[in-house]
Amino acid sequence: MTRTARPRRYLMCRPTHFEVSYSINPWMDPAKPVDTGLAITQWEQLRSLYLELGHEVELIDPLPGCPDMVYAANGATVVDGKVLGARFRNAERAAEGPAYLDWFRSHGWSALHDPEHVNEGEGDFLVTGSWVLAGKGFRSTPESHAEAQEFFGRPVIGLELVDERYYHLDTALAVLSEDEVMYNPRAFTPGSLAVLESLFPDAVLAGPADAAAFGLNAVSDGRHVVLPEAAAGLAAALRERGFEPVGVDLSELLKGGGSVKCCTLELRGPAA
Ligand code: ARG
Repeated sequence: MTRTARPRRYLMCRPTHFEVSYSINPWMDPAKPVDTGLAITQWEQLRSLYLELGHEVELIDPLPGCPDMVYAANGATVVDGKVLGARFRNAERAAEGPAYLDWFRSHGWSALHDPEHVNEGEGDFLVTGSWVLAGKGFRSTPESHAEAQEFFGRPVIGLELVDERYYHLDTALAVLSEDEVMYNPRAFTPGSLAVLESLFPDAVLAGPADAAAFGLNAVSDGRHVVLPEAAAGLAAALRERGFEPVGVDLSELLKGGGSVKCCTLELRGPAA
């Protein structure tokens, strides 16, 4: 099966101020040294890769004092040209929500919604051809799922996360095409797992090692799947399905609890 890539538009934030100075997920250890220069180099490689694959990359200016702003996926959710802003669970990241909304406002996006409920953008809202899959349990609230459904007018399917290492939906599941996903079955409650099994009976399933390498924190354009290079099992499974896995090394950004997808917010234009 030959897969077709669709060119995408992404928003990214250079990790100029990246560090691990607080801990809001189990991956973050402020006692461990972080090499900000290396983080920038690795992030630049990801950005160049997107450009080589034919995608557009827009940039938002990093704010001093917001070391996690590099995880652009958390900044908003954009569907059909409509921008749902983020509202962060933790005070350490609170300033990022308005900063991302300002970027959209000043770049010509007019259908904006400043959210009432806690939602951490595409960290917890993943968009398929028909639905928005929505994580809860650690960060985004069930109320934010209802808010997203009302704003986008798309069915939002709530999925409950149970493992604190996989605290955002995008650390446990990745959308591969309009109707295909890969996920870590151990990251969900039994009920949510049953929902995933019924919606995606042919999904690619990740084992514990690939999940721990952040293999599910991947970005697909329908053909190329950019993912951490350490997730070798997933890469093989994807190749078998006709995808082209492209491995990258974002080891420094993993120290903040994020990888490829966390650094990438997709800007989905108005429905054609
Ligand atoms: N340190 C950040 C946090 O805990 C990492 C966010 C990762 N982003 C993501 N989309 N999963 O909030």
